[in-house]
Amino acid sequence: MKITLESAEKFKVTVGQSFVIFAEGIKPFGFLPGKNPVQTLIEKTLNEQSRKILTDSVEIISLENTQVLVIQIPAKKGLAREDRVRIASARAYDCLKSRSISKATFCLQNAKDLDFSCVTEGLHFAAYEFNKYKSEKKLSKVEEINFIVAGKALKTSQALLKETEIIHTSITDCRDLVNEPGSHLLPHQFVAVAQKIAKSAGLEIIIRDGKALLKEGFTGLWTVGKGSDYPPYMVTISYRPTKSKKVPHLCFVGKGITFDTGGISLKPSAGMAEMKSDMAGAATALNAIAAIAQLKLPIQVTTVLCLAENRPGNQAVLPGDIFTAKNGKTIMVDNTDAEGRLVLTDGLAEAGLNGATHIIDLATLTGAIIRAIGPSIAGLFSNDAKFAQAIQKSGAKVSEKLWELPLEAEYREYLEDPVADMKNVGKSEAGAITAALFLEEFVPAKTAWAHLDIAGTAFTMSNWKYYKAGATGWGLKTLVEVARHLAHTA
Ligand code: BES
Ligand code: ZN
Ligand code: ZN
Repeated sequence: MKITLESAEKFKVTVGQSFVIFAEGIKPFGFLPGKNPVQTLIEKTLNEQSRKILTDSVEIISLENTQVLVIQIPAKKGLAREDRVRIASARAYDCLKSRSISKATFCLQNAKDLDFSCVTEGLHFAAYEFNKYKSEKKLSKVEEINFIVAGKALKTSQALLKETEIIHTSITDCRDLVNEPGSHLLPHQFVAVAQKIAKSAGLEIIIRDGKALLKEGFTGLWTVGKGSDYPPYMVTISYRPTKSKKVPHLCFVGKGITFDTGGISLKPSAGMAEMKSDMAGAATALNAIAAIAQLKLPIQVTTVLCLAENRPGNQAVLPGDIFTAKNGKTIMVDNTDAEGRLVLTDGLAEAGLNGATHIIDLATLTGAIIRAIGPSIAGLFSNDAKFAQAIQKSGAKVSEKLWELPLEAEYREYLEDPVADMKNVGKSEAGAITAALFLEEFVPAKTAWAHLDIAGTAFTMSNWKYYKAGATGWGLKTLVEVARHLAHTA
């Protein structure tokens, strides 16, 4: 899909075109420029009989060969206006596609910058499909969208368009990666994708294989990965802008379990297929740093990917096994299905070794977070109130919902073990909190840290808002926004 821009003042209406206008109630977002028959017809429809007609979400007005799709911005409870505009825009795309209209003009001359960005985003989201495993590909596609904007808004619109495109290319790459099945995305294959992305974004990359992990004491990742025939890897990618200050240094740590069977503590079969998405944290962290580099944000960023397959092979870690983590703490593996927190111990250590001042780890960590706050919100935990607030605000700005939960010290004793320093699971209550409390033990000293539990938001079993069933790429926009915020405030 190609999006082009044109100034309203210069645009000429010709017969045979397809137009999209957005309306909120009877208030349209944009109008065709100048006086012409289509314009007159739209005005008439909107002014006279519209109240009733426009309660429908899509209204099509035809004049000769010209079609005008009037798309209502839905009044959906609980969603910010920006998200409702994205939904309307995605709906416009779907309408065009189902009518096999491959070219259309969107009238946005009255749209504010934010609305403009959200319309653009809605189109990018709607155009996403993961069809590489379909033997028959559906051919109907929207090829070209022309945005008409007010002449004076042309320059800012161009910049917004470019920026949205960068972010959405990364979101698309992230979704593609998360949607890959476990058979096609093993840890070494994830490494190859990371290499390709790092190369094209001009980023430095360090790769540690299983042997290097063991030798250097990154034992959590090695312990989880050793049950598989395909060894684990840690990947560290760094971005240093040209005019880089040393501080702040933001680090993303991503859980990258290419498939989570649960290991010896095997998961039940129902729903296990979704565990191909257990590397969503790593996919998001990887593609976020690529977007940040392309946007040339003035902040130092490092991404650490903890890649392993959790599988009950011959050498798999057994319940009761004890290992020593990179920071010297001994851990008893009570449940091999609580593997995310084990691999993250090494990701957090590596972030510290790289000099991070701020760490955000992203992980599809617990089913408990979904039981607590449902599938539309990610859990946020942090040891630093200011950082938590910055993340919370960044999420709100891009319509990615976060809810902060407490690092309740009273529950820390659930992780005590008679033999080792600690065990990897607590009780059945407060599962998302005890997972975060576990991670907190491995956060490098004097570092602002936040943990995002994205188990609910990273993957959707059915269509949700403008997301098709499958990977969402949720969180990437928040990470970019946090980087922007830190770059400009610190
Ligand atoms: N990858 C899962 C968490 C998960 C569940 C992600 C559902 C997405 C959807 C994680 O490794 C896991 O298995 N966690 C266990 C922890 C338990 C053993 C303490 C869980 O949530 O059941
Ligand atoms: Zn697990
Ligand atoms: Zn997992």
